[in-house]
Amino acid sequence: MTTPPLRLFFALPCPKDLATLLCAWREGIGADGRPVDAANLHMTLAFLGSVPRGRKSELLELGKALPREAFTLQLDHLGRWRNGILHLSPSIAPEPLLNLVHRLREMLVALDFPVEQRPFHPHLTLARHSLRLPTAQPSFTWPVRKVTLFSSESSPRGVRYRAIGDWSLNP
Ligand code: 2AM
Repeated sequence: MTTPPLRLFFALPCPKDLATLLCAWREGIGADGRPVDAANLHMTLAFLGSVPRGRKSELLELGKALPREAFTLQLDHLGRWRNGILHLSPSIAPEPLLNLVHRLREMLVALDFPVEQRPFHPHLTLARHSLRLPTAQPSFTWPVRKVTLFSSESSPRGVRYRAIGDWSLNP
């Protein structure tokens, strides 16, 4: 029997205290749709999809070579896309974030991993299958200190994102 591939993505994990605040705020504004669990809140940097297990070590090596500059995100915009993703985003994307994603994509291409061609739209998904955009003005500060390689794992209890590599950023 062959081992199933991993479903991987690089992301910024949302700190626990901020995740707690975001979930309370989401409830307060009456957001509809399927809420993302507090433990699963994150900002995707690069989605890889299905990756053979044997290639995990290449990604762990790549992680060590990522830029390490810490930054702060101001989540000051609430939006909803037509695909039903209700999300928070920064109205200004900090330069170190853009640089991080740029380098990440470059290194993934060099290793021949499939990479998203579309421009990067930094966002944190609050809920999926949302049908309406609540009126609310968010103002959350996210000190970004970590990049994580996550494995997305499905079980009868839902999707769980398991960290398989972590790299800290330096303030
Ligand atoms: P999101 O960033 O809009 O929330 C794991 O599935 C994460 O990767 C999710 O956060 C998801 O959406 C993001 N993602 C980006 N492109 C994806 C794709 N083509 N399929 C599934 N998830 C994708």
